[in-house]
This record gives sequence, C-alpha cells and structure tokens, in this order.
Amino acid sequence: MTWSPYYTGDGIPRDVEIADPPPWRTFPRRAMGKEFQPPPGLVEAVNAALHLRRPLLLTGPAGSGKSTVVEQVANELKLGDALRWHITSRSTLTDALYRYDALGRIHAQRLGGSDGVDDIAPFLQLGPLGTALLPSGRPRALLIDEVDKSDLDLPSDLLDVLERGEYEIPELARYKDDVVDVRQWGGDERHAVERGRVRCTQFPFIVMTSNGERDFPAAFLRRCIRYTMPQPTIPLLRRMVMAHLRLDIEDGSPLSDLITDFVARVEGGETLAVDQLLNAVHVMSGGSAPDEGHRRQLVELLLRELSRA
Ligand SMILES: Nc1ncnc2c1ncn2[C@@H]1O[C@H](COP(=O)(O)OP(=O)(O)O)[C@@H](O)[C@H]1O
Ligand SMILES: [Mg+2]
Repeated sequence: MTWSPYYTGDGIPRDVEIADPPPWRTFPRRAMGKEFQPPPGLVEAVNAALHLRRPLLLTGPAGSGKSTVVEQVANELKLGDALRWHITSRSTLTDALYRYDALGRIHAQRLGGSDGVDDIAPFLQLGPLGTALLPSGRPRALLIDEVDKSDLDLPSDLLDVLERGEYEIPELARYKDDVVDVRQWGGDERHAVERGRVRCTQFPFIVMTSNGERDFPAAFLRRCIRYTMPQPTIPLLRRMVMAHLRLDIEDGSPLSDLITDFVARVEGGETLAVDQLLNAVHVMSGGSAPDEGHRRQLVELLLRELSRA
C-alpha cells in the first residue's frame, strides 16, 4: 500500500487513516538483515577484516549502503546490536571512550552533606568505542560513521587506540576503589573496570564509513581493509527492491522502467541514492498506485538530484 492523499490543502479538519509506513520506516527501528544485498566484492572485504582483525573502511556515495553493512554482519554472525558512533567535527576520541559528568558529581557531593558517601559510578558511562573494547568472548560490532567529517587529528588518535586495543579512564585510575561498575553504551548493563584500565580480548568488528570528503594518512589506510561501494547495477537494484518490498518486478512494467531510468541517470553523472528509488517504488506499487500523470510528478519529486538543493 502506498499512494493516497491525506492532505488536500482545503483546511477542513477530517478523520484520516494513515497507511502503514514503508518497512524501513517502522519504529522502533530494527537492524537490517535479509534486506541488504551486498554488492560484488563486499563479502570478501568483510571476511578479510574479520580474519585479520582490522577495521573495514567503506567509501562511496551517500545512500550506497555503507552504514547498513555492519547491521547485516552483526545480525548474521550474532555479534549483538551494532554499537554506533556518529562522527561530527566536534567528536572527540575521549567522548567515544567514556563520558564523565564532573559537575554532576560535585553537585551530588554537596547535596550528600555529611554522610560522606561519594560514588563515582553514576557519573561515568562508556561510549560506543569504549564499550566495543571491553573484554568479551566474541567480538562486538562497531560502526564509526562518517569518519571523514572528523577533526583532522581524530583518525590518527583513533588509530593509536585501535592498535593497542586498550585505554585508560584516568578518573578511575586514581579513585579510592579498585573496581568500579561502569555503565556501558546503549543500555543499563555494567562492566567492572579495574584501576581504570580497559583491555579488549577480542578485537571488535569495526566498520568505518566515509563519503570521501577528505583523504586519510597512509598510516591510517595501511591498517584498514578498504572497499568502495560500486554504482548500483540493474540486477542489484532489482534484488534490493524485491528484498525490501517483497515485490516481483515484471519486465516492461513501470517499476522496471523506474529502475532502468535510475541507472541511466546515475551513469549520466547524476547523484541519486538507493533510498530515493525505494521511496519511489513504495509509493508506486500496491493497490492505490497513482495514475500515469501523477506518477511522473511523484518521480520528479522523489528522485531529485542530490548535488543540487
Ligand atoms: N545493497 C543494498 N541492499 C539493500 N538496501 C540498500 C543497499 N544499499 C542501500 N540500501 C538502502 O539505502 C538506504 C541507505 O543506506 P545507508 O547505509 O544509509 O547508505 P550510506 O551510509 O552509504 O549513505 C538503506 O537504509 C537501505 O534501505
Ligand atoms: Mg551513512
């Protein structure tokens, strides 16, 4: 189900039933498993990264599936939910390892008055990278998303932590208790940290993604397995549509034409993302698909070039 107008612009209140969302817009979000269709060569790159205990660096255009790869790997290999670290220019390595709320602790000490209880644990939480490096029987999965958006020094600082597979929480190294239960990223689970030292026992499965906005130093690249997401082909897109929407695409049908046009535009140099195609297919399939004229208007709306506003 799909295209049905809700809003008409007449300003008259009415009761409308809003149809089910596309499968990729249901909440709470669930990790993508079978829907993801690996492009040729990606499987080998993932396996090389797993074998060699090296991060996988994925480059390629927006919407090519880079951030989704880790979900399928984590799901298929039962590594637990992937930990996610989304990088911005303000991201720091320390934030990704752990967060310490110094002000909150001072405040609590003041309120605590004379009973003298001072517990640091409630004011500490491990970040996504800090959690991924906890000792464990199986590797955890970690996504370091859009690493090219980081501050210039971050990749080499990160490299250092990943080479050593350990880090220190200085606030705990000099704390009165030897062992502190610290909250992990993404839940209420705790881990007993001894004298502020964390050392991994299984190097995590790490996917880093980059839209290619910057080059990385050779020392960084040398320690990663690199893979570039290819431009999607007609057979790959057909498989994606079928996997996401459980649709059969007949040759010569409007959906088949949509895919052919999409590939032709991408090959002609336009920037378009797979999500846009999936959106267009979603509104165009099912019971109340729009008529011909409407369809053209919608395709124009949904498949606008990305490099222009
Ligand atoms: N190979 C693929 N198989 C299935 N779906 C894909 C594939 N590549 C992209 N998609 C779809 O496109 C969406 C955007 O992918 P995403 O991982 O966010 O791209 P990127 O991180 O490269 O910008 C995903 O949610 C997924 O629905
Ligand atoms: Mg992404």
